[in-house]
Amino acid sequence: MNEIDQLRTDVLVAVNTATDVAALEATRVDVLGKKGRVTGLMKNLGGMDPEARKIAGQALNTLKTEIEAAINVRRMSLDTAALDAKLANEKMDVTLPIRPEAKGSLHPISQTMDEMAAIFGAMGFMVAEGPDVEDDFHNFTALNFPPGHPAREMHDTFFLPTAPDGNRYLLRTHTSPVQIRTMMSEKAPIRVIIPGRTYRCDYDITHTPMFHQIEGLVIDTETNMSHLKGCLQEFVRTFFGVDDLTIRFRPSYFPFTEPSAEMDIGCSRAGGELKIGNFGDWLEILGCGMVHPNVLRACGLDPEIYQGFAFGIGVERLAMLKYGIPDLRTFFESDLRWLRHYGFATLDVPSLTGGLNR
Ligand code: DAH
Repeated sequence: MNEIDQLRTDVLVAVNTATDVAALEATRVDVLGKKGRVTGLMKNLGGMDPEARKIAGQALNTLKTEIEAAINVRRMSLDTAALDAKLANEKMDVTLPIRPEAKGSLHPISQTMDEMAAIFGAMGFMVAEGPDVEDDFHNFTALNFPPGHPAREMHDTFFLPTAPDGNRYLLRTHTSPVQIRTMMSEKAPIRVIIPGRTYRCDYDITHTPMFHQIEGLVIDTETNMSHLKGCLQEFVRTFFGVDDLTIRFRPSYFPFTEPSAEMDIGCSRAGGELKIGNFGDWLEILGCGMVHPNVLRACGLDPEIYQGFAFGIGVERLAMLKYGIPDLRTFFESDLRWLRHYGFATLDVPSLTGGLNR
């Protein structure tokens, strides 16, 4: 009996001081396992006389039950402690600020083109596109620049080496060739805008060799200059957010329009700062006119039936004016600091320029 009492004391101390589940399991195997101490004592029962065996057997069974119960209790408390420790360790501080995320932004040119397309889109214009590498016919001849005509010199053209087909391809100097492509492939009435890249061999504070234009073309049977005026007036008022912005047309010359005009909007240059609004000064923002009969003819349209208007707008110019960007060249220097400053938050919606220019 003494031996059993001693064993109970030893085992209960071992169980209750086990610091983790592994130590507890080792104690269990040591006591109740196949070669355990209690198991060994039980094996000895066989050699005892019946009376002693009965007493010792009962005592050993009780001891075994007690030890098992103690082990279970200890295991539960160790499990709980382990879980508590885990929970304490893995606690999240939901008040911490989120990690900074590297987010892209929309280039001001993309943003401006999207805005322009949205305004013309609301007036019923569709978007048309054409290739950056053009041929002489679409970029010049069909637009009423005859071969050798001095107006061709207005554009400092990037020419490609003469191609095997004998053509001297070029980088389009304006988006106007897409007028030709549209008139030749679509049936009138036509109402399109043509956003895209254009190229001229020029580089200074107001010129970059690549820049962007949005061309407009309307062809119908009853179109006149008042439609042109109403359309462009509505556009600049909406784009600049000045409801009564005044506009002015000055006679000009483009080979593909007759009459041709340049359109100015009201501005102020007081104190060296350019502001849009009706302040008495004027700023040129686009070229436009009524489509020249020769251009209609080149596209197979009868000028006695069809006529229309066209316009060409420099996108960089408008972006600079609207968003106060002082230097044109910075648009294409790919300086991330500049983009973070002048860029626009992207919305997860498809963007016109996302589709066209990437
Ligand atoms: N293509 C002209 C340029 O790049 C701009 C222009 C002027 C376009 C008058 C037009 C227009 O459609 O009617 O300078």
